[in-house]
Amino acid sequence: MDNNPDTATDTLPETDLPEAEAAPQLLPLAELHLHIEGTLQPELIFELAERNGLALPYSGLEELQALYEFSDLQSFLNLYYANMAVLQTEQDFADMTRAYLARAAAAGVRHAEIMMDPQAHISRGVSLETCVNGVASALATSVEDYGISTLLIAAFLRDLSEESALEVFEGLLAMNAPIAAIGLDSAEVGNPPAKFERLFAKAREAGLRLTAHAGEEGPPSYIIEALDVLGVERIDHGIRCMEDPDLVERLVDERTPLTVCPLSNVRLRAVDTLADHPLPAMLAAGLNVSVNSDDPAYFGGYVDDNFAQLQAVFELSDFDRSRLAANSIHSSFASEERKAELLDELNRG
Ligand code: ADE
Ligand code: ZN
Repeated sequence: MDNNPDTATDTLPETDLPEAEAAPQLLPLAELHLHIEGTLQPELIFELAERNGLALPYSGLEELQALYEFSDLQSFLNLYYANMAVLQTEQDFADMTRAYLARAAAAGVRHAEIMMDPQAHISRGVSLETCVNGVASALATSVEDYGISTLLIAAFLRDLSEESALEVFEGLLAMNAPIAAIGLDSAEVGNPPAKFERLFAKAREAGLRLTAHAGEEGPPSYIIEALDVLGVERIDHGIRCMEDPDLVERLVDERTPLTVCPLSNVRLRAVDTLADHPLPAMLAAGLNVSVNSDDPAYFGGYVDDNFAQLQAVFELSDFDRSRLAANSIHSSFASEERKAELLDELNRG
């Protein structure tokens, strides 16, 4: 099959999202919710397929891009996992990571906490060493190369068993993988956080930081379970907390960070349109929210695109934008010294 992107276009399929207006000034911020495999741009998928001698089931970029229409989380995950087939070598993982870092630097990201899904690679016969060392090699020089401090988060697939997660977690410890935290992602509904109680207890014992996706498609009770049973410090997405006023009050009181991903929520139909997104209500309620890109190659934009489109729809004030940037820095797992440096940069404007 011909993998040449002979029908190349630079754009993703049209969506009902509004055009971004003139880009507001970029603020220095931390990106806390980013799946590195979700940064695999269609062009890079073709490039890696060619390099690895793999036949893709698409004739060209246009045919692939036509598939970027999702009806829910699972419809996205099907394509996201299928496209990972092109990631074969350490170099592939390193190239994907460098491409993200270069684009994130242009978006104003100064600190990034990057999730990867080791189980999605091991299950295809790619070793833990290959995927972890490939991503980690790019992160090791991210400050010098891109001015971005980075941390790696090993995310576990909640639609697989806890035994599988525990086995991979032990493998990560055995290879002394440079991970700072663990996370929980993939198909949420029907896979409640409590399924991974032992995994999170072990990660805590190992001195790792803890985060989990909850309240993206799943109910508010999953957010409560992630906090109370897993003991996570941060909730990824969390938008469905707005259905439970007592939970909102608790999250405000405890300053629990919620890493919100507006364009992702639109593309995966967690909300109908960006104008229906709860972010303004979350800010008004006093929740500790930040703006993140989740899987930017799939959802129509990086973190600057998320800000630009929010700005176009909601006319966020300078105060709100600074607050979102400050929340991202305060909510990061960076050292206190690094946080102070970034907050200083933000305050100097
Ligand atoms: N894996 C990659 N992106 C995800 C998302 N938005 N939700 C759950 N799992 C994911
Ligand atoms: Zn996510």
